This record gives sequence, structure tokens and C-alpha cells, in this order.
Amino acid sequence: MSGPANPYRPGAGVPPPVLTGRDDVLARFERVLEEVSSGEGQRPWAVTGARGVGKTVLLLELLQRAEDAGWVTARLEAGPPDSLAAALTRALYVPLRRALARGGERGGALSRLLTVFSAVRVTVDSSGRLSLGVDVDAAAAGAQLDDDAGLHRLLHALGLWVRDEGRAALITIDELDAAAPADITALNRALHLLGQDDLPVPVHVVVTGNPTLLAGLARANPYAERLYVLHQLGPLDDAAAAGALTEPATHLGIRWDPAAVDRAVAESWGVPYMVQSIGSFAWQVRAGESISLPDVDAAVGLALAEARGMHLARWDGSTPAQQAVITALAALGGEAPLAAVAERLGRTERSLGRVRADLVARGVIEGREGRFRFTVPGFAAFVVENR
Ligand SMILES: Nc1ncnc2c1ncn2[C@@H]1O[C@H](COP(=O)(O)OP(=O)(O)O)[C@@H](O)[C@H]1O
Ligand SMILES: [Mg+2]
Repeated sequence: MSGPANPYRPGAGVPPPVLTGRDDVLARFERVLEEVSSGEGQRPWAVTGARGVGKTVLLLELLQRAEDAGWVTARLEAGPPDSLAAALTRALYVPLRRALARGGERGGALSRLLTVFSAVRVTVDSSGRLSLGVDVDAAAAGAQLDDDAGLHRLLHALGLWVRDEGRAALITIDELDAAAPADITALNRALHLLGQDDLPVPVHVVVTGNPTLLAGLARANPYAERLYVLHQLGPLDDAAAAGALTEPATHLGIRWDPAAVDRAVAESWGVPYMVQSIGSFAWQVRAGESISLPDVDAAVGLALAEARGMHLARWDGSTPAQQAVITALAALGGEAPLAAVAERLGRTERSLGRVRADLVARGVIEGREGRFRFTVPGFAAFVVENR
């Protein structure tokens, strides 16, 4: 079907045409922007949720808002090969160069920050301004900060510099679960120390991870549970899912039939990735200026066939004991009382308590009126067909 380009954006970390259903967390972030700028300390944020729920695109929105407010921003993704310090050094390279190009003065907070980047070649030109060598090896610089206190030194020096400039900084760390345990400990400790300053530096850190992230952080440092403000992202409610489907189309002169919207919302289970995927296929298969119920039915089939990545992530991230429960629940159609799952496995309900709790904590299953079901559509069929 030709016409306006498809506005929907199924994928990983691809911003949707309209970000719906996150008004509360965005309103809280607006307060953080004000309070951190005015020198009030703010606990770092931990944004958690299962894959496909919209953590990365929320981070992108926060980064955009911080940039619009004039903040220095750095976007990190945890995980090999870089340590967090190396990733942060790399991410700060561009803002630092920009600051230097504007004429950073010697001796100020900026040069203190630069000395923390000890491997960064700092040269002073004839006007006494600092400049960064163009051949900076950010990874090598970060590696020198890999001792326990390095990350704290870097964040603190960054904070002093942005405060000096009358600004603030936002650091986002996506998929923190992928970081090395030593890195997680160093981050917790750094944030803990920053939070203890009498005059906290204006640096706000937001990390994301699986629903079990906070438990993992607390294993590294018991105080971590109280260190972070937790934002648990869940599925979109019906109105938000409907808005995510209809608003982008309306802008382009394409109408969703009300019955089609209702069906798409129901079949997506509010999972943002599925909302985008169903929207995208419905857009492709539609025959004219509107999207009908049969369009959505076709789109749902196509979207489920393509949800393999999301399904695999849930399966692969599960322990053998969890996979046994998943397999039993899938064989029961994806929704059943725990007693039925236990019976199928020849186990007692009680003995499954721990596994069930872990699966709920990971966002793989959810409890509803004494029954359990998977949190994403199509997972039961995926497991039956592939396992
Ligand atoms: N609030 C939202 N409204 C509409 N679409 C969303 C929303 N959040 C995420 N999406 C879409 O869902 C998909 C997954 O988002 P992503 O941020 O990659 O999830 P995660 O990082 O949690 O795995 C993307 O296609 C994105 O455009
Ligand atoms: Mg992500």
C-alpha cells in the first residue's frame, strides 16, 4: 500500500512516533530537572522492566529533555568490552571537546576534570586555553579509572565542572545487568558517596535493567536497595496503547476503525513492542484510508510470528527450573492456576513457590485472580512449538 510512510517503529531502542503512557515518570523527571539544577540532591533512578517494555526509548526521551534544558548528557550501555568508567569517558569526550572549543579556562573545574582523565593528552595552546588531543584513546583513559574509586572521581569532577558552568549533567546507563560485578559495585559506591556530599554535585544518573535489577544491585551492595528510586515500567494501559496506535495515523490522515483499535490493543497485551509491531503490519496490509478489523487480524498473526526475539530473550534468560514451569504453563495454554502447573509437573504448589516468585519478579509471568499467565502474547505458542 503506498501513501504516507509507515509511522510505527517496532524494534529495540527505536523511538516510537508517539510515546504514550509514561506521563507520571516524565512529570517526575521534570521535577528532577528543576531540583538538580537548583542544587538539591536526587537519588539516582533505576528503571526496570522486561524486554520490549520501553526502557531504552524512555531513556532517550529523558536525555532529550535534559539536553533541551541545557544539561550535559552522556549515554552509556553497560557490558563488555568497556568498563563503565571507559564508557563514561568515551561518552563525555564530545561534550568536553565542545566545552574546550568554547574556550575552557585553565585552572578551573574543567581542567580538574581533565586531570581525572589522566591518559587524555591535554595541551595548552598559545592563548592559554586547553585543548584535547584529537587522538585520545578514551578506552585507555577509562581503563586508568578502573580502580574502585575511579568512577566516583570521574562523576565528582564532572559534577564540579557542570556546576561551575551553571549546568547539570544526566548520565544514563542502559542494561546495567550486563555490567561486570566489580563495575556494579563501583557504581553503587560512587553514587552512594555522591549522595553523601553536603552540597551534592548536579549529576543525575538513571540506570535500566531487568525487573530483577535492584535485587542484583543489592547483592553487590546491601544499601543499593535504598540508594535508587525505582521506576518499574509495565505494559501500557488500554488508553495509552490505543493512543500509540491511533495518534500517529491520525496525523497522516489514516483512520483506525474503533473495533480495529480495540482488537489491536487487546492482542498487544499493552506490550509496547507488540503495539508498534501490530500497528506497523496493520499499516502495511490496509487497503485504503482506514485500518479495519480484518487488517488487524492479519497484522496480529504477522506480529506474533516476528516476536521471536522477545520470546527467546525470556526463554534464554530462564533457569532450567523456570523453564520447566514455563513449559508446563505453555502446555496448559499459557494461563492456568498454579495448582494445574504443579500437577502437570508432579510437584506440590508449595515447592513451586520460589520459582513462581522468580518468574513474576522477572516479568515472565503475572498472577491474576489466582491464575498465572505469560506477560507477552504468543509466548505460550512459541514455547510449545520450539521446546
Ligand atoms: N511508551 C511507548 N509508547 C509507544 N511505543 C513504545 C513506548 N515505549 C516503547 N515503545 C516501542 O516499543 C519497542 C521497544 O522499546 P525499547 O525501548 O527498545 O524497550 P526495552 O529497552 O525495554 O527493551 C520500540 O519499538 C519502541 O518504539
Ligand atoms: Mg533496551
